[in-house]
Amino acid sequence: MNEFTVEGGALHAEKVALADIAREVGTPFYCYSRAAFEERYQTFSSIFEGTPHLLCYAMKANSNQAILTTLARLGAGMDVVSEGELRRALAAGVPGEKIVFSGVGKTEPEMAFALDAGILCFNVESEPELEHLSQVAVAKGTRARISVRVNPDVDAGTHAKISTGTYANKFGIPIDEAPRVYERAAKLPGIEITGVDMHIGSQITDLKPFDRATARLAALARQLMGQGHKLTHIDVGGGLGVVYQRDNRPPPSPHDYAQTILKHTGGLGLKLVFEHGRLLAANSGVLVTSVIYVKQGAGKRFVIVDAAMNDLIRPTLYDAYHEITTVQSPATGAKLGKVDIVGPVCESGDYLAQNRDLPPVESGDLLAVHSAGAYGAVQAGEYNTRPLIPEVLVDGERWAVVRARPSYEAMIRADIVPPWLALK
Ligand code: LLP
Repeated sequence: MNEFTVEGGALHAEKVALADIAREVGTPFYCYSRAAFEERYQTFSSIFEGTPHLLCYAMKANSNQAILTTLARLGAGMDVVSEGELRRALAAGVPGEKIVFSGVGKTEPEMAFALDAGILCFNVESEPELEHLSQVAVAKGTRARISVRVNPDVDAGTHAKISTGTYANKFGIPIDEAPRVYERAAKLPGIEITGVDMHIGSQITDLKPFDRATARLAALARQLMGQGHKLTHIDVGGGLGVVYQRDNRPPPSPHDYAQTILKHTGGLGLKLVFEHGRLLAANSGVLVTSVIYVKQGAGKRFVIVDAAMNDLIRPTLYDAYHEITTVQSPATGAKLGKVDIVGPVCESGDYLAQNRDLPPVESGDLLAVHSAGAYGAVQAGEYNTRPLIPEVLVDGERWAVVRARPSYEAMIRADIVPPWLALK
């Protein structure tokens, strides 16, 4: 199901024409579909119906409060990686017992805050972290529920910057060392072992890495339980890929993914925990931008738009492909031409697409950058003093700005000129 469809020659988000939003809000802006989030969440949940499970949405993908509230109302848990994310999840109404805390660098104040929130589990990534966590918990007169995040040494076959499951990167504890670390954890007064955890990478489009890694993680869980550790859940992380380019081989369906996971975890008697982010968010949002100029270079044609690398960094950071279409359908028979779609930022790396087929466009035309709901707005910055762009949520025929464009005054006011520097 796609909630971004063309009706009457105009691209819509659910029942709302994107051009109507553009007229009121101005461009560029992110636009999300509430139904798309719900549909993806429900599809995933229904596949695992009958198996105790919790989908902890990796909110780093898109942490707008309106999105978190949408998912919280559906019963989702959250995977958080900072106190800020934890505070967002709680503010959206996600109960502490549905929150897991991942990340290699949890600080003591973050641990203390998470213990007070009564979170489901800390996914511990190192022995020093384990000891600090135990101390923080003891000081509070409590025990921290933990999983050790293991690194199963499986190559996820994805972009180097988003691959996490091999020994070449900073994440987790090598799986061979895990039994020893669990022994140590069991002796720490502030620690309560509750699960095992992994996350091998993002935008994984092949089932084999999931298959291999889950087999290893399930074997570890079995071994640990055999040694007397009391486990309640197995967290297999997130990372299932989504469609960015329609004519590419599609990523595995959630259904096939489920079969692969269940094959290994079926007999364990453990609750399954997932940490998918992109799967729910990526194709639930688009970025709408206007053409500023069309510039014919020597041998290359540039479509200069008002969105840039500071708004969507994925193309330049990960060589990511995002489909780009005109919001108004082109005239029948319009000839496609190769263009680079670039932003106004003063860097050659500032592009949204290179060598892309696009129908003729002119100043003022709207373009939609698809699959921009995950790792878009959350990775935006104000480089070149460009205000963060607004976010809009559509629900059927209604829509609302769920994050407003800041004013230039507010941006400038955020900096503080010390009195001894100010002009008299
Ligand atoms: N769990 C952990 C511990 C993670 O580090 C991540 C993503 C996830 C879950 C969710 O992965 P997902 O299901 O969304 O693939 N900015 C990059 C992606 C970075 C992913 C970081 N960790 C991008 O735009 O492709």
